[in-house]
Amino acid sequence: MEQNLLTPMPRIGDKAPSFKAVTTQGEINFPEQYEGSWVILFSHPADFTPVCTSEFMTFASMEEKFNQANCKLVGLSVDGLYSHIAWLRTIKEKIEFKGMKNIEVKFPLIEDITMEISKKYGMIQPGESSTKAVRAVFFIDPKGIIRTIIYYPLSLGRNFEELYRVLIALKTADEFGIATPADWQPGDDVIVPPAGSCNTAKDRVEGKEEGVECKDWFFCTKKISKEEIFNKVLN
Ligand code: BEZ
Repeated sequence: MEQNLLTPMPRIGDKAPSFKAVTTQGEINFPEQYEGSWVILFSHPADFTPVCTSEFMTFASMEEKFNQANCKLVGLSVDGLYSHIAWLRTIKEKIEFKGMKNIEVKFPLIEDITMEISKKYGMIQPGESSTKAVRAVFFIDPKGIIRTIIYYPLSLGRNFEELYRVLIALKTADEFGIATPADWQPGDDVIVPPAGSCNTAKDRVEGKEEGVECKDWFFCTKKISKEEIFNKVLN
């Protein structure tokens, strides 16, 4: 509770709070060294726990896919570096999950024993646990701005295909100046921004704006193919 008074939780649109950290891949300077890339900063409750293990195996096996979308992954828990190293070695040597085995986690995993970083990012949520970080996910854009925040409780493993969908949707919105409707997947129709004038609204409902289809003046969509999207948002 005290932490809530001292450190406001970062919000969408804020600059990602800066920190230096020790990780399993050496020291990092966040978010400065990630300038020019998207980055997903995510926390997990603890090393050597089963849900977290399943999550790390899944995320690590998808890392290349995220990298192809110019997105780096950075994990964090309040465990120490040697615990992280031992856990990642155990995952590689012993754990099999949903057909995945011999999985090497190559992205950095931050040690945060002091909870300094997790508190800065609102990852410690005392109603859930005062000793473990919740499953937080921060999507940070190439300019270091937080663009999406998702929190899950300790008991709920994340859906990493959904995290990938969020990344592609954010990049698609930026590239094409559109919004994405409920349950959108690449290739589905996208939402055209609302008409900014009565004339545009009129033109749209009269079908005068090429490629735009309107159900009403405020609800207009257009098509962008999956190929066009992936050509733009993948490296
Ligand atoms: C887990 O990752 O399995 C886990 C961690 C903390 C609380 C409950 C489950």
